[in-house]
Amino acid sequence: PSPRGFAMLSRRHFLQGSAAAFAAGPAFALSPRPGGAATSLTLTAGAMPHRLPGCSADSLLWGYNSTWPLELRVQRGRPFEAVLKNALPDHTAIHWHGLRIPFEMDGVSYFTQAPVEPGQSFRYAFSPPDPGTFFFHPHCDTITQLGRGLAGVLVVEDPRDAGLFDHDQVLVLKDWRVRRDGSFEDFTTDAGAAKAGTFGSVRSVNGAAPPEIVVRPGARLRLRLVNIDLTRIPMLGLRGAAQAAIIATDGNACTPFPVDGWRLGPAMRADLGVVMPATEGAEVFLEDIWSTKPRLLAKLVTRGAALRRDGAQPALRLPEAELPVPDLKAATELEMALLAGHADPKMEAWAKANGVSIDELCLTRKVFWSINRQSWPGMGPGLKPDPLYELKAGRSYVIEIFNGTPHLHPMHLHGHTFRVVASTEEDVRPHWSDTVLVRPKERVKIAFVAGLPGDWMVHCHIIEHQETGMMGYIRVA
Ligand code: C2O
Ligand code: CU
Repeated sequence: PSPRGFAMLSRRHFLQGSAAAFAAGPAFALSPRPGGAATSLTLTAGAMPHRLPGCSADSLLWGYNSTWPLELRVQRGRPFEAVLKNALPDHTAIHWHGLRIPFEMDGVSYFTQAPVEPGQSFRYAFSPPDPGTFFFHPHCDTITQLGRGLAGVLVVEDPRDAGLFDHDQVLVLKDWRVRRDGSFEDFTTDAGAAKAGTFGSVRSVNGAAPPEIVVRPGARLRLRLVNIDLTRIPMLGLRGAAQAAIIATDGNACTPFPVDGWRLGPAMRADLGVVMPATEGAEVFLEDIWSTKPRLLAKLVTRGAALRRDGAQPALRLPEAELPVPDLKAATELEMALLAGHADPKMEAWAKANGVSIDELCLTRKVFWSINRQSWPGMGPGLKPDPLYELKAGRSYVIEIFNGTPHLHPMHLHGHTFRVVASTEEDVRPHWSDTVLVRPKERVKIAFVAGLPGDWMVHCHIIEHQETGMMGYIRVA
């Protein structure tokens, strides 16, 4: 039973507005101007009070534009501009997760840009090349900044799928390291960082208790699940629908496949297409079925006159993704080993010699993990390890990722959308992704065409793993 019910705005309603922003349930939508003018806005990063579920007082979250979670909607291929204004007490930047945009826009502090200091601003401008469900977040001291909630959702609309759904709803999954009085606990622990990560104590969907979403019988919904948690890997389960499928992975259209059992690691997105039963009072449950006792993520309920009867309907699938297709026969094969790691004495010496404290290097003091036996040494002016690989733009590559640790790692590559093509542990349904979950002992093959020139980060998106060594980069020239 959900303490919080809200009726949904139709997709048409979302798109009617001018550039003005308006509230939609617990989320917030910003419509592009009709007619294709550039969408331009300010994103003010700042602290904001917000009551998390089960807490007796507000928590001081960090977010954008005093809205949590902030949801932006833009059009594929149209110019988009966002000026980040930093009203936080700490420096920050915005990484646009999963977007294939130029390196200078990738938002990695000390790496693609200077960090944006308190009171300063930075202008991001690009045209999102691919449609889908994306998100954005800082990339330095992410344990604390994302731990406090600093992230937003970016939906890139595709004119090709207009009219496929009656409702389009973003569901942001995030846990919080908070006490009942709303104050934050330590965001990281050594025991967590060295293992599966430090879990939050309060779970939330769109910053609240699981929503109850009321729709008409027979309605077709697109649920855009975005896991922005730093640690948790839910396993999805859906029951009660007339029809349901995962129709996009990490925002990219896929051949529809069953929802049940799909694991959504940190940073991963799944778009679900759902057709509601044609009867009134029907209930559909979206759950995390990872543990023996399923956890509700959202409940859908039908009310009112039927919107549609079963029968002739468009298929529950999105128009094909339009991405550079790797040539598997011509591809160069590379290996990436995920292993435990150790502090590099060279790094400590470097920090000392340069008068830099390790805390300034977007790194915690501990090192537990490595990629290809190299632990990320942190970021700072003049501190840059060698790339993991040097690739040629336009050429095809296959990377075999081997997980030699006892924990799962959702591995993310910046600036590219890759194809997950093979696994030693299961029959993979080939699909597009930017973050792939690799299980202990598993070898997963990803394939892609090297994209825009730049140094593209690759790292685990369990943020404590990322910040204790499991990060590197790939150079594309
Ligand atoms: Cu979502 Cu390197 O990040
Ligand atoms: Cu990891």
